[in-house]
Amino acid sequence: MDNTASHPTSHTPVAEALLKLDGVETYYGPLRALHDVSLTVAKGTVKVILGSNGAGKSTLLGTIMGVLGGQPRRGTITFQGERIDGMATEKIVRAGISYVPEGRRVFPELTVSENLKVGAYTVRDRQSTRRTLERVHDYFPVLTDRKDQSAGTLSGGEQQMLAIGRALMNEPELLLLDEPSLGLAPLLVRQVFDIISQIRDEGVTVLLVEQNARMALKVADDGVVLEGGEIVISGTAAELVDNDEVEELYMGAASTTSEQESASTTSEQSATSDTSERGAQRGAQNDVDPESQDS
Ligand SMILES: Nc1ncnc2c1ncn2[C@@H]1O[C@H](COP(=O)(O)OP(=O)(O)OP(=O)(O)O)[C@@H](O)[C@H]1O
Ligand SMILES: [Mg+2]
Repeated sequence: MDNTASHPTSHTPVAEALLKLDGVETYYGPLRALHDVSLTVAKGTVKVILGSNGAGKSTLLGTIMGVLGGQPRRGTITFQGERIDGMATEKIVRAGISYVPEGRRVFPELTVSENLKVGAYTVRDRQSTRRTLERVHDYFPVLTDRKDQSAGTLSGGEQQMLAIGRALMNEPELLLLDEPSLGLAPLLVRQVFDIISQIRDEGVTVLLVEQNARMALKVADDGVVLEGGEIVISGTAAELVDNDEVEELYMGAASTTSEQESASTTSEQSATSDTSERGAQRGAQNDVDPESQDS
């Protein structure tokens, strides 16, 4: 009999993998956007996906959510021990994954309250919904002030808060956030990251796509860097912070700027577009599927 399992050090909690991707390949037609992506997201942690424009970050989240028809073409996605690749998005949401896509989509014609109510459509227990709603209002007091305002008239930052709040109304085990800080003023960026760490502390696991590496790595437990659809670096947040390539490519002027609360919106925007240009140059390296070429 092997006694090692009962040795105290073997009991050091090996964080349970809530989400596991193994050899995931995603295509847009013949274009391969994700190549052999394998990663795990441990329960109760924040994992960040870094990478330039076009690296495949949004594609990765979309693949997990099953919103890209017929994808992943290869590989497996396991959530709480259950295969979810190929599953309908609605079932994935019901299984406990909420998704805030790029560009903070809210229902513009509906009020803030109605948007939040829609987010709770998967939850049967009304008391639980009421508690979650209170939590969301605690996170984002501005939503309380604006609960009867139509969502389309909220500011960009308020819409982002609403989009995250609505995703939480599903009472997810796992929250996928695609660039939640994009286009927000520095103070709001800080607030969003504070809330992400609070959400994690309350037990929700978070998979976060961010270009603001500096801020993201302060909150994240670990992360990966995607380049041309492949994971090129993977490590703990501390390892990524110390990584020269991460430093050079993702922690340059742009992310520093958004940290300076005195920085004007204009300078933040110009810094962001610098990153975009650099990212665009680095991004266009995705491969073509050899199998699809002759079809
Ligand atoms: N609907 C689509 N059809 C064809 N190609 C697509 C589609 N969506 C994305 N792509 C391509 O897939 C690659 C990955 O795109 P993706 O949006 O995942 O990048 P990203 O890392 O999220 O970039 P960004 O930081 O700009 O949001 C890019 O080359 C992009 O042009
Ligand atoms: Mg994207």
